[in-house]
Amino acid sequence: MPASTAMSPRLRLHHLLLSILSALPTCPLDHSTPTSAAAAAAATASHHHVVTTLPGYDGELPFRLETGYVAVDEEEHGAELFYYFVESESGDPRRDPLLLWLTGGARCSVLSGVFFEVGPVRLALEHHRPYDAGELPRLRYHPHGWTKAASVLFVDSPVGAGWSFSRHPDGYLVGDVSASLQLKHFLAKWISDHPEYLANPFYIGGDSYAGKIVPFLAQKISEDIEAGVRPIVDLKTIMEHCQGEDYSNPKNAICRQALDRFNEGSVDEWLRCHNGDLPYSMDIKSNIKFHHNVTTKGYRALVYSGDHDAMIPFLGTQAWVRSLNFSVVDDWRAWHVDGQSAGFTITYMNNMTFATVKGGSHTVPEFEPERSLAMFKHEMMQPDA
Ligand SMILES: *[C@@H]1O[C@H](CO)[C@@H](O)[C@H](O)[C@H]1NC(C)=O
Ligand SMILES: *[C@@H]1O[C@H](CO)[C@@H](O)[C@H](O)[C@H]1NC(C)=O
Ligand SMILES: *[C@@H]1O[C@H](CO)[C@@H](O)[C@H](O)[C@H]1NC(C)=O
Repeated sequence: MPASTAMSPRLRLHHLLLSILSALPTCPLDHSTPTSAAAAAAATASHHHVVTTLPGYDGELPFRLETGYVAVDEEEHGAELFYYFVESESGDPRRDPLLLWLTGGARCSVLSGVFFEVGPVRLALEHHRPYDAGELPRLRYHPHGWTKAASVLFVDSPVGAGWSFSRHPDGYLVGDVSASLQLKHFLAKWISDHPEYLANPFYIGGDSYAGKIVPFLAQKISEDIEAGVRPIVDLKTIMEHCQGEDYSNPKNAICRQALDRFNEGSVDEWLRCHNGDLPYSMDIKSNIKFHHNVTTKGYRALVYSGDHDAMIPFLGTQAWVRSLNFSVVDDWRAWHVDGQSAGFTITYMNNMTFATVKGGSHTVPEFEPERSLAMFKHEMMQPDA
């Protein structure tokens, strides 16, 4: 009996991801010590190319995928962030939103977001038979990816996550604030390279720990907009998930758990994430003030929670939303997809919406893709969204 038949599902998944990663074109396999060829290739300020096939996917990809590197601290440490950009599949990418998507956790690869959440392909996990470690995992098309409605820019952040790397070891010494500022720098360079997306409505979204970064990044972008910095994205909406907690003193026991998982480099996430061997400073204690600031400036916000989220129960998120003291514009009501109840929603002043997704767990789009896509499309339909 081959050893692989005894592999736990988790270990199996780890092997699957590693096979995909190692087969992806032009990525340095070990981000902390990029091969000289990869480093040389990445040395140009913005280096990208279009990927037309993926290992494990039969034939040409039915969507446009671009991957690349953007240098974010070129003078100091030579750190570069890696991205996957999928153009909107709606047929109207010039008008659809551009969504920046960040993955939470301890330096988790944003491939979690691509393959398990809002991306256009998913790993086909065949649970009914043992996995052979020598075999390449299969990818299948995902009909409820958010790329059905928006172009999505998936970024490996902070430095050290996924394929993002630094030439100098000190480049890995980042935290909430510096990682957010690097993302802002990344965006400015990416949009200069892709001016055709300058006028698109720009959204920032992320799950779990990334929710801590989203409001702060939005605050920093809004400051640049006020200062007249050019070129700049047309920020419209932030989409978040459990971010508002005061992280230095989480009231919510479950939020505290999420934080502990982050500190420990959790067992659940190690396969997609870094093992906690790189330093990271949690220097944003609470982002309620950033969130408050950004929403009162007129940017929309959608805060969502799965109603089966055992890690960050929606009641805790809701308590956080209430603490902003915004008055209710449209009180609790059910929302529906195809005549079926899909969750509940409430709208506050300052165009702030809180929604629950029925059946959704911690990473909502992973387990409730249809309802999540419907929620996202609904948010996009709002005036000025
Ligand atoms: C709120 O926004 C204003 C104007 O952009 C800025 O000066 C202030 O520092 C912001 N507050 C926080 C907590 O970021
Ligand atoms: C909301 O109101 C409470 C009680 O009046 C106050 O302590 C809290 O600071 C307010 N929150 C914000 C974000 O203004
Ligand atoms: C909410 O959005 C609407 C539609 O764009 C806009 O007219 C309104 O000013 C916004 N409200 C606030 C409080 O920003």
